[in-house]
Amino acid sequence: MSADRIILRRPDDWHVHVRDGDMMKVVLPYTAAQFGRGIIMPNLKPPVATAADARAYRDRILAALPAGMSFTPLMTAYLTDGTDPHDLAQGFRDGVFTAAKLYPANATTNSAHGVTDIARIEPVLERMAEIGMPILIHGEVTDPAIDIFDREAVFLDRVLAPLLERHKTLRVVLEHCTTADSVAFVRAHAASGRIGATITAHHLLINRSDIFAGGIRPHLYCLPIAKREAHREALVEAATSGEGPFFLGTDTAPHALTAKESACGCAGCFTAATALELYAEAFDKAGAIDRLEAFASLNGPRFYGLPPSEERVALDRTPTKAPDLVLLPDGDGILPFRSGETLNWRFVGVV
Ligand code: DOR
Ligand code: ZN
Repeated sequence: MSADRIILRRPDDWHVHVRDGDMMKVVLPYTAAQFGRGIIMPNLKPPVATAADARAYRDRILAALPAGMSFTPLMTAYLTDGTDPHDLAQGFRDGVFTAAKLYPANATTNSAHGVTDIARIEPVLERMAEIGMPILIHGEVTDPAIDIFDREAVFLDRVLAPLLERHKTLRVVLEHCTTADSVAFVRAHAASGRIGATITAHHLLINRSDIFAGGIRPHLYCLPIAKREAHREALVEAATSGEGPFFLGTDTAPHALTAKESACGCAGCFTAATALELYAEAFDKAGAIDRLEAFASLNGPRFYGLPPSEERVALDRTPTKAPDLVLLPDGDGILPFRSGETLNWRFVGVV
């Protein structure tokens, strides 16, 4: 018999899009209700590229946090071809930046200013390796000749393996990994202690067929796109293994309903409204609810050299309805992942 209540150290979200402005005011409280810290993605328009940008964005996040909520935003720099290694290193030293994010140019939402060729940022990478600043990687090639379902696996061979070879001390997180290939790659480099990988809740729960179940389902479209079932199973196995390199990163990526349900819909799943419930469901289905704490609350802090939370949160095995449309002030809305469906777990709160 498995427990009906689980208590774990308060988790952190090591990959979150809280956006800005009105959208941020609406989505941030969901993340801050569950997670103590969040690695804040910098793909705003324009991107959060300098230490000054990150300070200003951090201030806006803290100002948008409802009174009484505790949440620490950990800021990242959006790497571009023109990133100044000194500004980056200074921002890291000053505690403004926790890490830097590599978007290959045009790989995903708001990545137009991303890096066009990793060779162009060699001095930046060298400096990051020297000072121990992690690089968080959107691991997909952008070569249009490569099938969208193969872009992550090809990235491992073409970009990530040579990168680790060239920079032997660079600390790397392969963000939102979606393939058995990535799981194997991370394990093959795990002994070095310098590689981590985040796994989203949605990639633990859906495969590529779900995107087309009964019709095209734009709210299940994200990047990297969900892969076939064998890959989902590999992700569940990795997440529930308890192994240090694998940790929680929701990649919750809200978009207005009208931008998702469109002739050219945006990539991103909004999971923040029920993030821990979704992870609990995936772990429970795998018979591994007892491993959720390592994945959600311990492995990430260890990778980043931060203490785990001293707070505790509880989840109950109680059917709960995921919220319907979350309204935006302009009359549009955001459709949460699994909106209106019944989930098996309920987030109780900090206990
Ligand atoms: O699905 C995604 N949405 N993947 C990303 O890499 C970016 C994100 C977004 O910002 O919307
Ligand atoms: Zn993301």
